[in-house]
Amino acid sequence: MPRETTRVAELAQLPPGHMAYVHVDGLPIALANVGGIVYAIGDSCRHEGGPLSAGVLIDDTVTCPWHGWTYSVRTGKALVPPIGIRVPTYPVTIQNGQIYVTIDWPDS
Ligand code: FES
Repeated sequence: MPRETTRVAELAQLPPGHMAYVHVDGLPIALANVGGIVYAIGDSCRHEGGPLSAGVLIDDTVTCPWHGWTYSVRTGKALVPPIGIRVPTYPVTIQNGQIYVTIDWPDS
């Protein structure tokens, strides 16, 4: 499975408590800065595809702007029923003030 690490944003553009939309080769990703720790999750809400990066972030919980489903940005797990729904999570590294996200792409 090919693994790819890509620079997606500058840390200075993502203050604590904020979210940002980025993409890697068209894969939509929501970045979230929770108290200085950056997390990356799939941007598309599992309900009807709402953009989680445009949601409200409180602590480590993001609320989808369309109908209010909530997710942990740390685990990607939905915090509302039905239990078991989740969005993908991606490893984040910070180097020299730059945010990198690692994607495991499926074999093609
Ligand atoms: S699309 Fe996210 S709650 Fe409906």
